[in-house]
Amino acid sequence: MSNEHATLSFSDSGKQVELPVYKGSIGPSVVDIRKLYKDTDHFTFDPGFLSTASCESKITYIDGEKGVLLYRGYPIEQLAQHSSHLEVCYLLLYGELPTKDEFDQFQRSITMHTMVHEGLKNFYNGFRRDAHPMAIMVGVVGALSAFYHDSLDIHNPEHREVSAHRLIAKMPTIAAWSYKFAQGQPFLYPDNRLGYVENFLRLMFGVPAQDYEVNPVVAKALERLFILHADHEQNASTSTVRLAGSSGANPFACISAGIGTLWGPAHGGANEAVLKMLAEIGSVGNIENCIRRSENPDDPFRLMGFGHRVYKNYDPRAKIIRESCHDVLNALGVDDPMLEVALRLEEKALKEDYFISRKLYPNVDFYSGIILKAIGIPINMFTVMFALGRTVGWIAHWMEMIKEPNTPIGRPRQLYTGPTPRDYVPVARRKG
Ligand code: ACO
Repeated sequence: MSNEHATLSFSDSGKQVELPVYKGSIGPSVVDIRKLYKDTDHFTFDPGFLSTASCESKITYIDGEKGVLLYRGYPIEQLAQHSSHLEVCYLLLYGELPTKDEFDQFQRSITMHTMVHEGLKNFYNGFRRDAHPMAIMVGVVGALSAFYHDSLDIHNPEHREVSAHRLIAKMPTIAAWSYKFAQGQPFLYPDNRLGYVENFLRLMFGVPAQDYEVNPVVAKALERLFILHADHEQNASTSTVRLAGSSGANPFACISAGIGTLWGPAHGGANEAVLKMLAEIGSVGNIENCIRRSENPDDPFRLMGFGHRVYKNYDPRAKIIRESCHDVLNALGVDDPMLEVALRLEEKALKEDYFISRKLYPNVDFYSGIILKAIGIPINMFTVMFALGRTVGWIAHWMEMIKEPNTPIGRPRQLYTGPTPRDYVPVARRKG
């Protein structure tokens, strides 16, 4: 794979080891430490994986310093402008943009899998009406494995493909029903005459009593958001999906684990947190105080929608969403004072030494909530929207991992700093 190597020497023993270095097609090279423990009795220490490539992948590339994001080599800006979410799904899953015939076949397959087993509906009634929709998503998506036994053999490529199509196809139905349940409205069945995004909108906002008309501005805005959220290489939820999958768990269980991880406010839950924060700020006059709080090391408050583990520049997705924010709000005739607060907050934060020195810029979640709100998505459904878009990325990574021969189970090690061996003390003799 490579003739390059790195030499690691240990100051205590003077021992030296040569470690192979592999080059990617672009981006940083990696040092292969797989034999380090066997050869030297040392582990590496990297909590939060700041310098660790956990796998080899051909799906998505990010240059965090330059603010570049490529799906299978295609810049996100071009895909957001010219492609559709389903086409991006095909690209991420199969590696190339589809021909017309390939796309028609893929679209047909996704469309034929949009319904869910009737028995799955019963799960919703088991939840409290005020359950967070992400809690419902974790439960119901995990439960799919109890209904689709015919596609659970992860070693069978046809099973994997059917499961992948099922997950992409059923996710809008499952997500919309988590909203309908809270509303106390009847669940609608998918309408296969509609496109992927249009069908989801009807499932969300339609009612059986009347026809639902899709607003093309809303559909386009959502389509774009789904494209922007479709994949982001080895983020926390995708790494969770890979780790779960490395044990041989079925894809429905793995994606359910990914949804649970996405829910956290440091990850996909940030879009919900941003809107709550903007609502709390309320007006431009209160921005200063909010920035001061976020800069105070003794205050746990962070500016939600700012900062990113990988991007040390403007998140390219945030740039696209920021631009479409105005268009969408104008086209819908929405005058949301929160957009003004967000724009001024960004402007002020980016002039602050604190944010400049730490390279903290708006991330994808900073503006997405404003668009989601404008198109009528309730705040507690924001992270569900993220999960809907990200489903294909999770599956593409799961597929890539399973296809790789001899993928070992993910099993990190640790630096143990607990007690050394000691003898059990009977309760009567314990001091306390
Ligand atoms: N507001 C204020 N300070 C921040 C912020 C923020 N949003 N983000 C990071 N910092 C500060 C940290 O306090 C730290 O300061 P220090 O050096 O004085 O200790 C420094 O910047 C580095 O921050 P880390 O937490 O080490 O950065 P990390 O890469 O681990 O975290 C994260 C990235 C979790 C995204 C963080 O920036 C954050 O919490 N942001 C707010 C939540 C958010 O928007 N999450 C969405 C991320 S995008 C996504 O998942 C889709």
